[in-house]
Amino acid sequence: MTIIAGNWKMNHDPDSSLAFFEKLKSYGSIPDNVKTVIFPTFLCLSSAQNNLLGVEIGAQNGNPEKSGALTGEVSIFDFPKINVNWLLVGHSERRHVFKEGSEFLKKKVETALSLGIKTVYCVGETIEDKEKGLTGEVLKKQISYLGDFLSDENLTIAYEPVWAIGSGMPAGSKDADEASLLCKDFCKRDIDVLYGGSVNSHNVSNYLNSGLISGFLIGGASLNADSYRALIDAVA
Ligand code: PGA
Repeated sequence: MTIIAGNWKMNHDPDSSLAFFEKLKSYGSIPDNVKTVIFPTFLCLSSAQNNLLGVEIGAQNGNPEKSGALTGEVSIFDFPKINVNWLLVGHSERRHVFKEGSEFLKKKVETALSLGIKTVYCVGETIEDKEKGLTGEVLKKQISYLGDFLSDENLTIAYEPVWAIGSGMPAGSKDADEASLLCKDFCKRDIDVLYGGSVNSHNVSNYLNSGLISGFLIGGASLNADSYRALIDAVA
């Protein structure tokens, strides 16, 4: 089963989200060997859930506190109540733009896993790290921080080199494989590792030969139903 996860970031509104799923539906049912997940904005969660295609829906972000004086935040505890059973944690934009630190990310992972939420924990090196040969060290640090949570079966790792995100410069399949092996090693088990960073329907199948990449976390190419469906067809 290959995972095709779409991270919409701050794109689409409820109307265009509905139009996306209508268009996707026009292509017919999704092949059984592909698991589809979309992470829409909070405002699109409920309409996206009614997609009738079996596309699972996740939140791009959440706060680990149950409730409180945290203006603008949305509690992870509330997601299962509305059948949102996936969560992204540690995306490069949360780490670098919103300056979310390791301890906060760990708390999100802890809360999500305690609720049985499928948690996609994103890791990846910057271009500076890569040039200094520090990829392995960075991945080890980001992953090891989660400690005992690494054994939870609802945890998935997404390897997303920061320099590959939205750049049109995807990592080579050999680099993605090497990173996947490192992630599995640091997790001490054969955890599912997704690759993300400039994936499209033309390059997606390059990553499937070795069996080390279980699926993909896709930004730009997931925004449009035609290109999202093309990704599904390419891996099916
Ligand atoms: P991209 O984004 O596919 O547009 O490179 C990937 C991501 O940010 O998850």
